[in-house]
Amino acid sequence: MKRERREALASHPLIARIGGTPLVEIRLAREAGVRLFAKLESINPGGSIKDRPVARMLLQAVADGRFAGGRRLLDSSSGNAGISYAMLGAALGIPVTLVVPGNASEERLARIAAHGAELILTDPLEGYDFALREAKRLAETYPDRYWYCDQYSNPENWRAHHETTGREILEQLAREGLGPPDAFVAGVGTGGTVTGVGRRLKEARPDTYVAVVIPETFPGVEGLKPLGHPGDIVPAILDEALIDRASPLPWTMRWRCAAGLPGKVSSLVPPPAPTCTGRCNSPPLAASAPSSPCSTTPGSATSPPACGNGPYSPDAPGKRPAIPAVRSQG
Ligand SMILES: Cc1ncc(COP(=O)(O)O)c(C=O)c1O
Repeated sequence: MKRERREALASHPLIARIGGTPLVEIRLAREAGVRLFAKLESINPGGSIKDRPVARMLLQAVADGRFAGGRRLLDSSSGNAGISYAMLGAALGIPVTLVVPGNASEERLARIAAHGAELILTDPLEGYDFALREAKRLAETYPDRYWYCDQYSNPENWRAHHETTGREILEQLAREGLGPPDAFVAGVGTGGTVTGVGRRLKEARPDTYVAVVIPETFPGVEGLKPLGHPGDIVPAILDEALIDRASPLPWTMRWRCAAGLPGKVSSLVPPPAPTCTGRCNSPPLAASAPSSPCSTTPGSATSPPACGNGPYSPDAPGKRPAIPAVRSQG
């Protein structure tokens, strides 16, 4: 019965458009003798990969009767999952409340509001984990008002990637005449992507190398959360045993890479973000990261190093990630 209900909802035209994204080759890498592909998740209806897990978590929750008595869906988000919750909630008639750090991008906040979701903004200076703790506090305080989806602990999150993203990657590579990949690289927000895809790929080929990039600050890269500092919350669903390498990503790298890539891969990347040139060009980031490397890196004022040549130095290949942090409760 539950399964039938879920399947009926899954045929909703909006939900049916989620996933099945193209796997695009980055030709640039061929010069180095590597075949490198990117999954174009931005073409999902909500504009990001988060549509996949959010759709699955919502369908399961509806099938389980979680919204009986007019209970609202509650979760925290750095922005993209929030768009998915708001968009799908509006389509399925589920009232949605989101706890979002106040420094999420204006465009994300505007889109969430446009779908009619209730927004609770937390102090940007408190960081992303504060929003997460606030959502948990609200859920515990008002159990009759909210059903807490908790994307950091909800197993439907990683299952969505196991059953769709990971499967699609294998099928798309097979259509290119290729087997399971040598390596897979992802960012970590909730850990759903790397856990679900990593599991699927390692089932197909146990020695697939799984790497993650971890931003040093929030919001260093939209959607990704810092994990490397003592006290950072580590998502309960993140399966660290799958990860062969974790590399820190200083937020200045984001600007350098985004500025350098478009000329070379013009069809894939949006217009260049401002390059860091000694003074930060981005007020929101500068404001939220007062001690950022941007203002302290000597020599960056006149000639910012090319992508990969800056102060960034990834840890040694093969090194296991050291994540001295607090694990979220399921
Ligand atoms: C655009 C984007 N990519 C990747 C991620 C990280 O995905 P996950 O939550 O599965 O770790 C997020 C998380 O919000 C995101 O918004």
